[in-house]
Amino acid sequence: MPGYELIGKEEFREVQEVFDKGGILFRHGFDDLRDGCFKVKSFEKAFAEKNKVKYALAVTSGTAALRVALAALNIGEGDEVITQCFTFVATVEAIIESKATPICLNIDKTLNLDPSELEKSITPRTKAVIAVHMLGTPARIEKIREICNKKKIYLIEDTAWGCGGNLKNVPLGTWGDVGTFSFDFAKTITTGEGGMVIFKDKINYKKACAWHDHGHENNPLVPRWEDTRSSSGFNYRMMELQAAVGLAQLKKLSYIVDKQREQRDRIWENIKDIHGIEKRHSPNGTFDTADALVFFVKNEEIAKGFRNNLLEMGVSTKILPEAYTWHFAGTWNHMDKLNGNYKNISKNFFKKSEELLKRSVSIPININNDDNKADKVRISLLKTLNIEF
Ligand SMILES: Cc1ncc(COP(=O)(O)O)c(C=O)c1O
Repeated sequence: MPGYELIGKEEFREVQEVFDKGGILFRHGFDDLRDGCFKVKSFEKAFAEKNKVKYALAVTSGTAALRVALAALNIGEGDEVITQCFTFVATVEAIIESKATPICLNIDKTLNLDPSELEKSITPRTKAVIAVHMLGTPARIEKIREICNKKKIYLIEDTAWGCGGNLKNVPLGTWGDVGTFSFDFAKTITTGEGGMVIFKDKINYKKACAWHDHGHENNPLVPRWEDTRSSSGFNYRMMELQAAVGLAQLKKLSYIVDKQREQRDRIWENIKDIHGIEKRHSPNGTFDTADALVFFVKNEEIAKGFRNNLLEMGVSTKILPEAYTWHFAGTWNHMDKLNGNYKNISKNFFKKSEELLKRSVSIPININNDDNKADKVRISLLKTLNIEF
């Protein structure tokens, strides 16, 4: 999560350029006042190139990116969208906002969607799957893609945490029909708030462009106030200042991911010999973003004890185990639209996932890590497990 750690003069220069060139903060128009400065368009182009796709659309958040993706694919009332029970509430909120029914399934030891649960859960109403690369580790996306192809349903990748990662050299976000990204302040690169949607298909992209802009088709033959429209929409437009920051951050993405991986590996190397811990699984060919180091301990009590011991040494955990309820559908009783079958499914439905999450620990990775962090993690772990150190 270190995008925010690296905000500096490069971001400032990009923002300053917006003001130097006329201070136009809107992504469209004002051509004679902006001296060729189009930060949102430039950010979209650079992001598409980085991810080797043709089309990218910048939006106001990762949540908006999901909502726009669903709209572009015409998903709405009567449709079911499958996702995983370990994700942030945003994934499910976007499905509910689109009036479709979210169906959450169990996870496996990747802590992402378990493909063995997927095929049997697809019904004639299922229109799409949203696979999430939680905390930057790829889902078993190759298998999920195969199932979606077989069943002829869309695949959306919620790549909020996976920006800059890949599986078998295919960038995360590009396995699916649509990939969504978040640039909120906790993500690998940040624009404060912001998001991106990437597409393979031009028709879906065009639909999304219009939908995120009140239905505006930005027809070059007419001024904007006489613009043509074919559908309604909403406003999820990114503004120029966010994109200016995004352009500078994008140039740092590879460095950030490499550094995170290095820091994560350092901590893991320092603890991996300890009996009773198991690293989170990842599919073959994983190049993760190493947003966090996640591993399993024997039970919930150890996970919580470890967290407390870590905190005493000034090191925090992230999401697991302390905030898992914000990220686990099994606890979202406040969402009455969750799972068409939710109220009827047995209490044990998510047992397998809950059991895994409660004994998971996630250590956030920073670029400017405290040099002693790896030792602090080791000492806290040994202390929790009552092993002499
Ligand atoms: C998996 C996932 N999807 C979507 C989002 C939403 O992103 P944003 O905060 O930019 O709306 C988040 C945010 O943390 C997330 O973790």
